[in-house]
Amino acid sequence: MTGPFRVALSGDFRKSDGSPVFPDFDLAPLHRAPGVEMAFLEPSPQIRPEQIADFDALILLVPRFGRESIHPNGRLGVVARFGVGYDNVDVDACTAAGIAVVITPDGVRRPVAVSIITLMLALTGKLMVKDRLTREGPDGFARRGEHMGDGLVGRTLGSIGIGNIGAELFRLAKPFDMRFITHDPYVDPKVAAGLGVEMVGLDDVFRRADVVSVNCPLNAETRHLVNAERLALMRPTAYLINTARGPIVDQQALTQVLRERRIAGAGIDVLEQEPPDAADPILTLDNVILAPHALCWTDQCFAGNGAADVKAVLDVQHGREPRLVVDRAVLETEPWRRRIAAYRQRFGG
Ligand SMILES: NC(=O)c1ccc[n+]([C@@H]2O[C@H](COP(=O)([O-])OP(=O)(O)OC[C@H]3O[C@@H](n4cnc5c(N)ncnc54)[C@H](O)[C@@H]3O)[C@@H](O)[C@H]2O)c1
Repeated sequence: MTGPFRVALSGDFRKSDGSPVFPDFDLAPLHRAPGVEMAFLEPSPQIRPEQIADFDALILLVPRFGRESIHPNGRLGVVARFGVGYDNVDVDACTAAGIAVVITPDGVRRPVAVSIITLMLALTGKLMVKDRLTREGPDGFARRGEHMGDGLVGRTLGSIGIGNIGAELFRLAKPFDMRFITHDPYVDPKVAAGLGVEMVGLDDVFRRADVVSVNCPLNAETRHLVNAERLALMRPTAYLINTARGPIVDQQALTQVLRERRIAGAGIDVLEQEPPDAADPILTLDNVILAPHALCWTDQCFAGNGAADVKAVLDVQHGREPRLVVDRAVLETEPWRRRIAAYRQRFGG
């Protein structure tokens, strides 16, 4: 094959007027790269095979990339997710087709961990309540003593998962002098030990933590992992924070415990249905802080994700293995090896 290395960006990176959704995603390195051509796809909820038939790489935001999205011509070599969640990508189908799936943990690690700290401080400091009281004038001021915050020293921060973001959360929380606990069946215990985090059973996180933060991936095992039974283990003074994926928490059960004030509150960046129905009862509660799956959205987050995806794509162009491949098994497949060798020959290593 000859010709340029063609990079597609899913259509949702542009607004309807053609302007970028994320202006901090710097595309200049792609424009400048010798031998590279890039184009935006038409927006669609699912990538269609004919859309990517003439592309070597796809940088993907929200649309689904399923088994049906793969074109039989075998040209596409890498799907680079903008972010770290990849539940919109059929990874097994990609592996079978010799397509590498890459993600951008370096871009989201700090911004999401900062979001969790933001929610923890806002919840325990009763920030939203105090904002409302202030706006009520003298009557609100008169009631400020009824809304004491919770100090954090000696309190327990628990995380479900101590991967990229969970570990960064503990690093950032260190100066608060809290106790740290986590449940993560797949992590090397040395990682937790190195961060001063005690590893405990899943139910113990709910029993012991004053703040429970969800930081595991969404999969069949973790769907509704935070259910009515586990919420019932939490103390009435404890808070739940979910910045991972909505369906990890049984939202109906959470709504119920919040309504009955069986826990102190929740900070939720991700919902089971996004966007939620206007009639979703969780929207009416005063003890939950909500964000539209965007609390981590900062200039630095998008610049970081974009730079990581561009680097991964250019690595593939030059026949180098990208650093953060999700489907490691693909690297051993014949189609991938042939592909990467051909790119190396065409564009240099
Ligand atoms: N809100 C946002 O905008 C946003 C942005 C980025 C990532 N996320 C989400 O944050 C979550 C964490 O991302 P990450 O980059 O830290 O992922 P990661 O893969 O680096 O870490 C996840 C950790 O969870 C652990 N884990 C897996 N199954 C588990 C289980 N059953 N119980 C407990 N732990 C389990 C894994 O061993 C791993 O250590 C993901 O759900 C991701 O989709 C959300």
